Amino acid sequence: MTTENSDKTPASEQELRDTMVQQLIELGAARSPRVVAAFRSVPRHLAAPDEDMAKVYEPEQAAITKTDANGTHISSVSAPRIQAMQIEQADVQPGMSVLEIGSGGVNAAYLAELVGEQGHVVTMDIDADVTSRAKEFLKATAYRNVTVITADGENGVPAHAPYDRIIVTVQAADIPPAWIHQLTEGGRLVVPLRMRGMTRTIAFVRDGERLVSDGFELCGFVPMQGAGENRMRLALIHDTEGEEIALRLDGHPEPDTEALGAALQAPRTTAWSGVTLAGDESNEQLDLWLTTALDNLPLMAAKPEARQRGLVASASPLGVPTLVDGSSFAYRTVRPTDDPDRFELGAIGHGPEGQKVAELLVEEIQAWDSDRRDHRAHIEVYPAGTPDDQLPAGRIIDRPHTRVTISWP
Ligand SMILES: C[S@@+](CC[C@H](N)C(=O)[O-])C[C@H]1O[C@@H](n2cnc3c(N)ncnc32)[C@H](O)[C@@H]1O
Repeated sequence: MTTENSDKTPASEQELRDTMVQQLIELGAARSPRVVAAFRSVPRHLAAPDEDMAKVYEPEQAAITKTDANGTHISSVSAPRIQAMQIEQADVQPGMSVLEIGSGGVNAAYLAELVGEQGHVVTMDIDADVTSRAKEFLKATAYRNVTVITADGENGVPAHAPYDRIIVTVQAADIPPAWIHQLTEGGRLVVPLRMRGMTRTIAFVRDGERLVSDGFELCGFVPMQGAGENRMRLALIHDTEGEEIALRLDGHPEPDTEALGAALQAPRTTAWSGVTLAGDESNEQLDLWLTTALDNLPLMAAKPEARQRGLVASASPLGVPTLVDGSSFAYRTVRPTDDPDRFELGAIGHGPEGQKVAELLVEEIQAWDSDRRDHRAHIEVYPAGTPDDQLPAGRIIDRPHTRVTISWP
């Protein structure tokens, strides 16, 4: 099979895969030779037959396969970069038994390559349409060491447990007990875990009833359905059609949306930190520090139109950390510096106390820079009901099954 590339020369499937793999290596997403080899072999375009083949091999391109009645994406073939990143986090070895929660076929095929004939992959999805597509894909690509199951991932798949690795490819707000109990001691669970609105794909190692983080990466995933469904609530502070601006609430206090909406219309104030980030530097650690240090910091989501109209100075699909205090708020922003590769972090405030709130946010940006910038946040998961004095110091996030802690050793 061939496709056209930009100079109209047909690019073969293998060329597309080789180019994708090269890009994944350059992005740092695929690092180990066995992961590179797996990504070089699986014909992922067969899982998205309606998509342009070249697109399916673009590292950042997810192929959306299902959308719900509200327009939220609920199923996709994840982007190659995200898949490679999670598979590297999982450190999958030959002969292992692996459970994938959230199916599609492609990721299961990569995992099947990595565990080899002596290993076994179980891939599950709550949606029968998804599992039937995954089955077709795995049949067409002749991966025989994969079992496809339709069920809610909340309960794992006890029949094939224990697993050396569990990889979750859907956003979770909590860790159900089955994921811990079906994992071998010392086994790894890789999960896009949402913590106060911020999602990181975290590699956890099981230590008895506790999970201990061994690295995490910034990511976005479709939300969990079924028993573990726990969507964020949107509190609209500006609701003009097409320009909506909202705060995503994830355990945060209920905001006074009317007062905050009025504050947004009033002139803004700014505070600058003197702290700079390189253009390609991620906010993943800074934002976790901010949510550890500040109690009322939901993420602000704004439609691109609101940004274009100048209603907000910063917007990101992942949301912008926003400190709320009564009728005032301030959100993180950046401005250019004399060095074209660096940006200065600051805050934009609105409302009667806007300047004060912006300065508070900036103080925490400075605190991160002076004391935490060389540290990595450490995330642990304990069963619900674990007393506070048995938890590490830092931010505690209470969920129905677990207490998640973010600390800064
Ligand atoms: C991003 S897609 C998975 C992509 C896939 N791993 C691949 O090969 O690219 C997320 C999937 O999670 C599924 N899902 C959502 N909630 C679930 C649950 N409770 N149990 C199992 N699957 C779930 C959705 O139906 C969706 O197909």
